[in-house]
Amino acid sequence: MSSNLKVSVWRGKEQGEFVTYVVPRLESQTVLDVVTYIQRQLDSSLSYRYACRVGMCGSCAMTVNGVARWTCRTHVAKVVRAGMIELAPLSNLPVIKDLVTDMRDFFDKWARAKGQFKGSHSRHDEFARVEPGSRERRAVDAGIECIGCGVCYASCDVVSWRPDYLGPAALNRAWTLVNDVRDVGRGKRLQAVAGDAGCHSCHTQGSCTERCPKQLAPTAGIAGLKRLIMKSGLEG
Ligand code: SF4
Ligand code: SF4
Ligand code: FES
Repeated sequence: MSSNLKVSVWRGKEQGEFVTYVVPRLESQTVLDVVTYIQRQLDSSLSYRYACRVGMCGSCAMTVNGVARWTCRTHVAKVVRAGMIELAPLSNLPVIKDLVTDMRDFFDKWARAKGQFKGSHSRHDEFARVEPGSRERRAVDAGIECIGCGVCYASCDVVSWRPDYLGPAALNRAWTLVNDVRDVGRGKRLQAVAGDAGCHSCHTQGSCTERCPKQLAPTAGIAGLKRLIMKSGLEG
């Protein structure tokens, strides 16, 4: 493969512009390889973020041709259009510089949704035994693999319309914890996600579920939270 790729990259902060770079096409090239080539060979002032390069850390997420994706697991061949790719920072988050967003709001919302495990046992107690086939365990297993990449959050229209909305990842985390039989923070957590900026704002159209690279289903967890909140009389 010897052709070139035209890559239009967002440069700047909230104010900025797209700058076009020409990058050689290679066999099995990922979008992250392309960004790395630009930074190392063409313009060392380009800022971007990555750590693992294998879909484990979630830090390389960007907007590729208008869609939020992990760039390390996205092959150029899958997204290239007429020899071009457009790269921008994730939506719904402030831009620090170029392709790097400020993830503080995203993680603060996990804390607002009471996304920390709250146990009642100490290390001196017996290990908890949770049946792998139980309904609660299966619900936890379905959501636990979230790596906090922000792809779902960047893809959520409701986050764009109302910036205080907790968003799919924080609510998926809350759902995972309310199903954890070892956790004792359920009541406060349900209260935390029951308000206007919580699960009731979700319109269930499922962009988060469609885009999550881990094939998680925040939409289903959010629906579960709505049901539990209704049952427990904690509405609004
Ligand atoms: S289903 Fe809900 S959380 Fe997911 S993208 Fe739509 S509004 Fe956002
Ligand atoms: S739910 Fe999926 S898309 Fe959202 S932060 Fe977790 S891993 Fe990323
Ligand atoms: S670099 Fe870690 S998920 Fe892409």
